[in-house]
Amino acid sequence: MINIKLNIDRALNFITKDQIQAFQNTIDESHQKLLNKTGKGNDFLGWVDLPSSITSTFLDEIKADADRMAKKADIFVVIGIGGSYLGARAVIESLQHQFSAFVKSDRPKIVYAGHNISEDYMADLLDILDHHDYALSVISKSGTTTEPALAFRILKNHLEAKYGKDEAAGRIIAITDKSRGALKTLADKEGYKTYVVPDDVGGRYSVLTPVGLLPIAVAGFDIHKLVAGAVEMETFNHSTTSINDNPMALYAATRNALYQAGKTTEIMVNYLPSLYFFTEWWKQLYGESEGKENKGIFPAGVSNTTDLHSMGQYIQEGLRNIFETVLSVEKGKRNIPIPMDNTDLDGLNYLKGKTITDVNHQAQLGTALAHVDGHVPNLQISIPELSEQNLGQLIYFYEFACGLSGYILDVNPFDQPGVEAYKKNMFALLGKPGFEEATRTIQARL
Ligand code: PA5
Repeated sequence: MINIKLNIDRALNFITKDQIQAFQNTIDESHQKLLNKTGKGNDFLGWVDLPSSITSTFLDEIKADADRMAKKADIFVVIGIGGSYLGARAVIESLQHQFSAFVKSDRPKIVYAGHNISEDYMADLLDILDHHDYALSVISKSGTTTEPALAFRILKNHLEAKYGKDEAAGRIIAITDKSRGALKTLADKEGYKTYVVPDDVGGRYSVLTPVGLLPIAVAGFDIHKLVAGAVEMETFNHSTTSINDNPMALYAATRNALYQAGKTTEIMVNYLPSLYFFTEWWKQLYGESEGKENKGIFPAGVSNTTDLHSMGQYIQEGLRNIFETVLSVEKGKRNIPIPMDNTDLDGLNYLKGKTITDVNHQAQLGTALAHVDGHVPNLQISIPELSEQNLGQLIYFYEFACGLSGYILDVNPFDQPGVEAYKKNMFALLGKPGFEEATRTIQARL
């Protein structure tokens, strides 16, 4: 059963149903190209049928490794950047206790490294790791990305100094290409347990490979249910391409109709702080997939109601090139009824007996109506509650809709040539061997 609902009613003051339906033919063609792996970027379409190809035995193996790591460690460091980190963090932070650092648990605390180049961040992390048992996974599909490579070099030295080389090796799991890259060479030499990132799955589509599954399992979440949710959405996706019946088709068509109507920025809005990193994952998925050839919807994110007190003014009255997509969760995990207060000095007794979630939902509705009045179309994607199954469905929903949407835009949604530009300059400035000519050219610009 599909638990995701998409409501576009509050976009229909800005675009017509006909404008959305006009994409049906392109959706039909794009759907076929994605399933048959015949469209642009077709060598990176392994994610399309990935969920249904994952065996229970494979998930058991990942879970066994995760449990082995959990037994050894109070802290598990996930080293990776971009698609090699955001999917795992999105799922873990959606599901875990939001003050997990202070909660006693038989699972390790998950911390992240290799997603920045901050020396202070690394020094602070080492302070903590000095006093805790830890293990780590180093995740890099290319095996050559500077940020995680740098973090791994430092943490590997620290781990070996703390436990000795052999024990350290047993506390490291490498997730990388099957045969290429410096990480693969290192992992083979040091004898680390290794998982492979499939050739035909790009970083931002890799959360349902060991890239995401291992850290999620270490954190104690049910990867069988997560994958089962994605399989449900994958299976459903085979049943229809109709914009009226398939929410992935409807989302792709509606956002492109809005884009053609001048709404060039999409804000993913969540009303739960635990969804902050899910929004970050979505931003990467859509930004890196669509932003090319001087086109693409700019993906932004806000966490409400927090950001209504910082970004709300702009969304209500700023440049009118925005539409919003709210990711709404119907039910909270827990209820806190609002108590009666005899003095009612804060004037909140009118909320007595309601829950905080009730208030949040009315804030959500009131905001949507206000923003529509301010000419911001509003789409709403809702799920019943935060669970592994629903997140699995949501992951596949967003991935497939992104593929469709990229094909409507007529770009290759599965490459990221633009990501290389900063790396080339950074290597030239740092004097990396092989970049001598680029170093000379860039020095002349300074
Ligand atoms: O989606 C992508 O391809 C990127 O975000 C990569 O995941 C990111 O650059 C990290 O690359 P790698 O896994 O090769 O270290």
